[in-house]
Amino acid sequence: MNSYLTLSHVTIDFPTPSGPFRALDKVQLDIEKGEFISLIGHSGCGKSTVLNIIAGLHQATEGGVILNGKEVREPGPDRAVVFQNHSLLPWLTAYENVELAVKQVYKNTKSKQEMREWIEHNLELVHMSHALDKRPDELSGGMKQRVGIARALSMEPKVMLMDEPFGALDALTRAHMQDSLMEIQAELNNTVIMITHDVDESVLLSDRIVMMTNGPAATIGEILKVELERPRDRLQLAEQPEYNHYRAEVVRFLHERYKNPESQSSGDTTDIDSSNEKTKGNEDHKEDEKPVLYAVNE
Ligand SMILES: Nc1ncnc2c1ncn2[C@@H]1O[C@H](COP(=O)(O)OP(=O)(O)OP(=O)(O)O)[C@@H](O)[C@H]1O
Ligand SMILES: [Mg+2]
Repeated sequence: MNSYLTLSHVTIDFPTPSGPFRALDKVQLDIEKGEFISLIGHSGCGKSTVLNIIAGLHQATEGGVILNGKEVREPGPDRAVVFQNHSLLPWLTAYENVELAVKQVYKNTKSKQEMREWIEHNLELVHMSHALDKRPDELSGGMKQRVGIARALSMEPKVMLMDEPFGALDALTRAHMQDSLMEIQAELNNTVIMITHDVDESVLLSDRIVMMTNGPAATIGEILKVELERPRDRLQLAEQPEYNHYRAEVVRFLHERYKNPESQSSGDTTDIDSSNEKTKGNEDHKEDEKPVLYAVNE
């Protein structure tokens, strides 16, 4: 049987001054329609590279990606991307950034009024209704990230590709966004592939957690199937032995089987967030990157 989304022997060599650098080696993964997959692994192992290949932003050197029977060769509106660093157009307001995506997808099917309601609805989902007219340089890092998420959601993509979408959010907003994402996904049945550094987040949200080995030549080390009933409630789950079992499996993989290569010698803490309490209050710690709008098919 053919699956909905297949990564077939995905290998990529990046050209570097000292010769080709193999970031990924024969990544093999079959994903079903409507599945929620999280990708977890230490910094630099190749998670963003996997996502960018699915998005059509990078071409695999060997192997490739097949979505719904077709090979992925370029970005398209069927795959919306939420980047690790937000990617809003700086000269447009929050509203206009979402509008740009909505116009491209719905210009023939929604009236002006319907589009306006849809844009406002999606910005409301991410708690941004109060800042519709602000431009990115007037927003905090977390707020910008939320507009990026609203933009991706507004396209109702078949596949949502999310690169640490909630990493820059404070704990409360993060919990709210996780719950919203679960609700939206249950309703739309879209396929989600999300990179996270947060063990709890991966267990709470995922149907399967794909754990990557350390690079170079990273590949999939283990896949953990999370068979917790949906809808999932974070408070109830925290008490359940099954939840803690899954959590421990991920922690074991990351801290015993594939330790953080950067902390092995120094005995440092790792880049993976496996604490239960998150107190990130500063939403502005991520550097802004130049804007890109690959998420929308131009
Ligand atoms: N364009 C490029 N040219 C050369 N090397 C690259 C390029 N893009 C990524 N790499 C290398 O490929 C590896 C994987 O990078 P990638 O950004 O996918 O890691 P990651 O798992 O997303 O890390 P993080 O968790 O820190 O975001 C790294 O060693 C990185 O230096
Ligand atoms: Mg990355």
